[in-house]
Amino acid sequence: MDILVCIGSSCHLKGSRLVIQRLDELIKEKGLEQKLTLKGSFCMGQCANDGIAVKCQDQVYNLKPEGVDEFFENTILTKI
Ligand code: FES
Repeated sequence: MDILVCIGSSCHLKGSRLVIQRLDELIKEKGLEQKLTLKGSFCMGQCANDGIAVKCQDQVYNLKPEGVDEFFENTILTKI
């Protein structure tokens, strides 16, 4: 399953690099490298929303860097 993290300029300023970094750590910690693939994406048209745009299975979420762990547990892990 692909997880797309927006790296457009607005999301970059909100900390998308931190989101990617933490997701990468979590994927490795849980040994899910075969199941989850992290990808960068251009602007998803969500700049006005609070948070960084992250797309997974055609659904877009708006995440803060501090919310990544909860998102991973409650959303990503339930989809795989
Ligand atoms: S830059 Fe991320 S949604 Fe626009």
